[in-house]
Amino acid sequence: MYQAEAGRYNALPHRRVGRTGLRLPLISLGLWHHYSSSDPYLDRRKVILGAFDRGIYSFDCADHYGAPEIGSSERLLGQVLSTDLKPYRDQLVITTKVGYRTIPGPYGHFLSRKTILQSINRSLERLRTDYVDIYYAHRFDPNTDLWETARALDQVVRDGKAMYIGISNFGTEDAQTICRMFDDLGTPYTVDQVSYNILNRRPEITGLVKEIKRQNKGIVAYGPLAEGLLTDRFLDGISADFKIHPTSKYIFHNGPEAVHKKLVALNEVAEKRGQTLAQMSLAWLLHDKVVSSVIIGTTSLEHLDSNLKAAENIDFSRHELFEIDNIVNGD
Ligand SMILES: NC(=O)c1ccc[n+]([C@@H]2O[C@H](COP(=O)([O-])OP(=O)(O)OC[C@H]3O[C@@H](n4cnc5c(N)ncnc54)[C@H](OP(=O)(O)O)[C@@H]3O)[C@@H](O)[C@H]2O)c1
Repeated sequence: MYQAEAGRYNALPHRRVGRTGLRLPLISLGLWHHYSSSDPYLDRRKVILGAFDRGIYSFDCADHYGAPEIGSSERLLGQVLSTDLKPYRDQLVITTKVGYRTIPGPYGHFLSRKTILQSINRSLERLRTDYVDIYYAHRFDPNTDLWETARALDQVVRDGKAMYIGISNFGTEDAQTICRMFDDLGTPYTVDQVSYNILNRRPEITGLVKEIKRQNKGIVAYGPLAEGLLTDRFLDGISADFKIHPTSKYIFHNGPEAVHKKLVALNEVAEKRGQTLAQMSLAWLLHDKVVSSVIIGTTSLEHLDSNLKAAENIDFSRHELFEIDNIVNGD
């Protein structure tokens, strides 16, 4: 029978999310890619339990994650939750989302009341749990009144099916509007899950980071390694088949050569800090306390161990920050 490592909470610091009562480990594990029906269950279980043993108690899913079977990432996590992790359920932060396509028809995506209230039930069934800890609106819905969405998310909490609410992929203005609605409703809205990494500064440029600070909420950064770009994998060149998430695509506006030059220069800064490029990239996000947690995607305990070392040094001198900004903003 699985028994969690006793010293796990000393292994990785956790951080308060804004002024809320929610606390997240500095690093969370995301199950978007390679955690589904087509992947080896025992291998993935090993990484999930290994992560928990190392202080990662937050696991991120979405109703539409899983290939080829949509929803199978939740199913895989549900299997671990209902067996090995069952005695630890109260210690875990399990998150899932609604908004992308899951079933055919108008109620299979986006954020109508009907979609949200039905999708949470399907998620809970797959996850084999009575509630999730954070329930996210996965993207903005331009064709549903935002008030309807806010009230439906609030209802999910009132029904006892989620502890906290989050949003993801909303523009700054929409994030501001829905936050006001949550305030009016008394909804425990806590986090914005944002595509953010050392190269992708869009959340700073659009004012989103500033807005979340103003709200006293937290950012959970997704794609913190830009799908593996910010690791040592591409220091010799970026392969033609490398696929970047659409939200980080703009960093390639001057072509892969320009990005490669930045990777090499960033790696030099990382080496001076005694870190790998991946470790420095994660640490850089965490140096600002508005970032409550970074969600990494990995199927490898070796990569996980290496990434966790990032938390050992998240302080940057002004000179280092200046150097990094110059590299990122140069052409
Ligand atoms: N809200 C949203 O719209 C949204 C969108 C995208 C993602 N997310 C969430 O964020 C999570 C993470 O996203 P992501 O997978 O795109 O992010 P990521 O962590 O930036 O990149 C993951 C990739 O990096 C590789 N990697 C990780 N550590 C490495 C290391 N030390 N050395 C070399 N390669 C390394 C992984 O390969 P290995 O498996 O070989 O380690 C994988 O290919 C997702 O699972 C999901 O939960 C949310």
